[in-house]
Amino acid sequence: MIRLNGALCRQLLVIALLVYCNKGFAQKLTEFRPTEVWPDDRGEHIQAHGGGITKIKDTYYWYGEERRKGLDSNKRYVSCYSSKDLMNWKFRKDVVQMTDPNNQGEGWVLERPKVFYNSKTKKYVMYFHLDNKSYKTASVGIAISDEPDGDYTFVKSFRPLGHESRDIGQFVDDDGTAYLIFEDRPYGFRIARLSEDYMDVEKEMCLISQHMEGGAIVHYKGLYYAIGSALTGWRANPNKYATAKSLEGPWSEFTDIAPPETNTYGSQSTLLLKVVGTKGTTILYLGDIWKPKTQWDSRYLWMPVEIGDGKLWLPAPKPFKLNIKTGLVTE
Ligand code: DGJ
Repeated sequence: MIRLNGALCRQLLVIALLVYCNKGFAQKLTEFRPTEVWPDDRGEHIQAHGGGITKIKDTYYWYGEERRKGLDSNKRYVSCYSSKDLMNWKFRKDVVQMTDPNNQGEGWVLERPKVFYNSKTKKYVMYFHLDNKSYKTASVGIAISDEPDGDYTFVKSFRPLGHESRDIGQFVDDDGTAYLIFEDRPYGFRIARLSEDYMDVEKEMCLISQHMEGGAIVHYKGLYYAIGSALTGWRANPNKYATAKSLEGPWSEFTDIAPPETNTYGSQSTLLLKVVGTKGTTILYLGDIWKPKTQWDSRYLWMPVEIGDGKLWLPAPKPFKLNIKTGLVTE
């Protein structure tokens, strides 16, 4: 039998405590650090790629593609995190752990999950891009849950309004109406209103004849701003924006949101998030920096955009602070 003396025991205890603290209590973050590793409450890099955000009361839920190492390669996973300040995120769980729901075959695809909360049915309705490995199915899937971080049950998949649909984006207008943005190759991207229970895509608002992925929309001071990327797979490209007074259009010409030579600082749009506070409103650009060969290390570029009077500009990434109560950004 090995006998430990008192000093050794104490040393081992301190080491065990340090290991535990490091795992269990990651340091509270005090600023956003776009492009860097983003630790969650466990100190692990957030895995919520191609994601969407749903706000319930004062809590934000971030859903995205779970791409950590060691996943079952037959399954696809959607993660869920929660936060009150958009910066410190608690990992809730993988709310989707799905096996190929309707025979898409090996290498099937579940991407860009987005959750809409329906206050009438009290259901959390998740849309996602469902495809086969060559992206020919081009459909959306729906899974639902009674809780934001519950186990989502697959309901059905379909082509919205009969159209091809690859990348999807979510948009909830100020009046609470929910829309799906989806890429319909070769026509462009479409904005369509969801049905009352959100279980269907009901009415097309507009087809924007621009080939764009990662579509996102925000309604700001009477104008709609739509952004998206070009179609270059996982490689970044210059993302662009257009504006319109109504979702039906007409939409302006598309213009770069950042210096084109930076390829949107290596990122691709996934959402425009409006943070309304007591003193102001900040619009955050939420983008993914994909690392296709090491997807678990893909990063995020979240930055406040300069926006107004029909102009939208994404400044170069740098650390910033956002006061969630006032809605104001400081450096
Ligand atoms: C670009 C899309 O935006 C991503 O979500 C993903 O589908 C890749 N293409 C796949 O190449």
